[in-house]
Amino acid sequence: MIEIKNITKTFNPGTVNEHKAIDNLNLTLHEGDFITVIGSNGAGKSTLLNIIAGSVPADSGFILLNGTDVASLSEHKRAPYFGHVFQDPMKGTATDMTVIENLALARSRGKKRSLFRWSIPNKDKTFYEEQLKSLGLGLETRLYQKVGLLSGGQRQAITLLMATISQKPSFNQIRKDYVKFNPTRRSEAKEEVERVYHEQKEIFVNSRKAIRKDSSLSLVEKNEKIKDAYGIFDSKMREYDVTKPVLLLDEHTAALDPKTAAKVLEITERIVKEQSLTTIMITHNMNDAIKYGNRLIMMSNGKIAVDISGEEKKKLTISQLLDMFSSASDNDVLSDSAILG
Ligand SMILES: Nc1ncnc2c1ncn2[C@@H]1O[C@H](COP(=O)(O)OP(=O)(O)OP(=O)(O)O)[C@@H](O)[C@H]1O
Ligand SMILES: [Mg+2]
Repeated sequence: MIEIKNITKTFNPGTVNEHKAIDNLNLTLHEGDFITVIGSNGAGKSTLLNIIAGSVPADSGFILLNGTDVASLSEHKRAPYFGHVFQDPMKGTATDMTVIENLALARSRGKKRSLFRWSIPNKDKTFYEEQLKSLGLGLETRLYQKVGLLSGGQRQAITLLMATISQKPSFNQIRKDYVKFNPTRRSEAKEEVERVYHEQKEIFVNSRKAIRKDSSLSLVEKNEKIKDAYGIFDSKMREYDVTKPVLLLDEHTAALDPKTAAKVLEITERIVKEQSLTTIMITHNMNDAIKYGNRLIMMSNGKIAVDISGEEKKKLTISQLLDMFSSASDNDVLSDSAILG
């Protein structure tokens, strides 16, 4: 859970250019929330994400990550907890490095490791190949090409992978970290995570037994089914992984052609679901804001003007959203891309 409390940011204070970009903003993100953020140009959307990631310091307020204040941590120290993807495909990757080097670098994030003396073991190569294959863009054959040679869409897909690829902790580590990150409710947290672990383990072990016994299945089918059952166990436990990154997407498909943008959004949704990542996605595309996520936020003048979730969000139409948009931002200029959706 992330609690953003009383965040304020004024740029160029005390000058003629003084501008309050974030105005006493409060926002609580629940575990697994996928929030789409809309709002006119200059509403403060990017500033909010930058403050969360630590690239812009807030003037006041708190950012609590599972109860721990991260507002005082540097961007670098916060890096393992946040995956920040920007509009510009040039921003997220190192152009002169190969695809596999970029991925390996992202994966080792937050770990002490010399950049100069690292080689990528073969088993890791297979892992990266599989990850790239899952994007469905044929990038698994381009492991040793420099990222600078790839198209914007391909680079954005790789950036997305990099933002979410940090080493998966073991179930043991997940259980330990979950208790550590809930200092105010240690014993309940321990009881909760242990219960879920044992329940899910039992479900997995029982279904594995049943699959193995099922004589109508071939060996390959059995292995597939066991893998799926383990996947469910794994994703249940990942829900308790407090160290997995929170995904911050700042118009990450805005520079892509419509077809590629749709593909990258599809990849985004799949990664978010598979890893049950808490996600904030800024977009100017109203259709995407409605289609993706479980919650929608509209920002205006550094504040949250609208916050809709659940069934209400599912039923939302473009025209309703445009009405809210115009009443929330009377003084703001509605951008063309927002209208065209
Ligand atoms: N580093 C900065 N220095 C001065 N002013 C800034 C800085 N960054 C942002 N601002 C100002 O803060 C306000 C909010 O900017 P922000 O980039 O957060 O808007 P946004 O909602 O992301 O807009 P857009 O949809 O155009 O990306 C704007 O008026 C902007 O000019
Ligand atoms: Mg912006």
